[in-house]
Amino acid sequence: MKYVTLFEGDGIGPEITNSVVQIFNHLNIPITFEKYDIGQTLYDKEGILISQESIDSIKKNKVALKAPISTPIGKGFKSLNVQLRLMFDLYANIRPAKSYKQIKSRYSDIDLVVFRENTEDLYIGEEKKISDDEYIAIKKITRKASRRIIKLAFEYALKNNRKKVTCVHKANILKMTDGLFLEEFNNIKQDYPSIISNDLIVDNACMQLVMRPEEYDVLVMPNLYGDIVSDLTSGLIGGLGLLPSVNMNDEYAIFEAVHGSAPDIANKDIANPTAFLLSACMMLDYLGLNKEANLIRDAINYTFNDLDSCTVDLGGKASTSQYTQNIINNIGK
Ligand code: NAI
Repeated sequence: MKYVTLFEGDGIGPEITNSVVQIFNHLNIPITFEKYDIGQTLYDKEGILISQESIDSIKKNKVALKAPISTPIGKGFKSLNVQLRLMFDLYANIRPAKSYKQIKSRYSDIDLVVFRENTEDLYIGEEKKISDDEYIAIKKITRKASRRIIKLAFEYALKNNRKKVTCVHKANILKMTDGLFLEEFNNIKQDYPSIISNDLIVDNACMQLVMRPEEYDVLVMPNLYGDIVSDLTSGLIGGLGLLPSVNMNDEYAIFEAVHGSAPDIANKDIANPTAFLLSACMMLDYLGLNKEANLIRDAINYTFNDLDSCTVDLGGKASTSQYTQNIINNIGK
């Protein structure tokens, strides 16, 4: 039996968590979830964003599954997502975007993986007031953090038979910070001669990904560009509801959907749990439970054959709970 720390999150979090738990229970997956409140929900109850017990649980289990949490915009507490990434030094945020032929989107054959540096850049949260009319934010890029994420992207490409790694940056303007990231990319690519490598300035990268996504494969970039470009890649496959992710280092891994807590559709039983389910599947792969992960992924794929049986954002008519039941009914088909 494996133990995993589970956070239900805010907004649609509890609904999509329920889908995962129901499907795991149906398959008797040998995982015990240790469930904790987190984020706005815990803040409203106890005035804290995360409890020491849940931090200890992550330290013990090394693996967590986390539903999205809400962060106030422009005011209030600092993002707990960012805090967790920093607390556990989860330097790699990996976001695969793969098309499903049944889901209507502008492209039919997308297969991209974004490697986003997760611990520095503007996300260190060092903002300063100069005056009422002037604020600055510090962008931090280090050789160490750049090196480890770039190396991980190349290693992933090598192990998964990927052909190309592209570095995305803005080194033409940010000559020191992004310049350092690009310098490390150019150093590390020498160790991987079998993999095609190139680099693109971030604005051009956005255009190229929309015009010729088939020319890209694995992409690696600093934190802010990774955040934005991975939403773009989710748009290429039909939306945020389908994108899983992991925040990890060599010791810890926290799996989560790319999307947020979607407060606009919370408690309506209409949220799409697929991205969170696919994140749970990534977690099963990570834990060596590949057979179970594939059973769930195949059932999702099978369910997509009848879009009416999917959630509204995918063009379907089913509620979250009906869609979950449909996936369960399609396991093994
Ligand atoms: P969002 O991803 O929550 O929602 C954007 C749009 O996509 C909304 O219209 C929403 O209804 C829709 N959507 C998102 N997930 C969906 C799903 N599973 N099924 C169907 N529709 C879905 O982004 P937004 O509105 O910018 O942020 C809302 C809150 O989430 C904020 O407090 C933000 O800070 C937080 N957030 C948390 C993240 C995390 O915990 N990892 C990541 C991104 C945002």
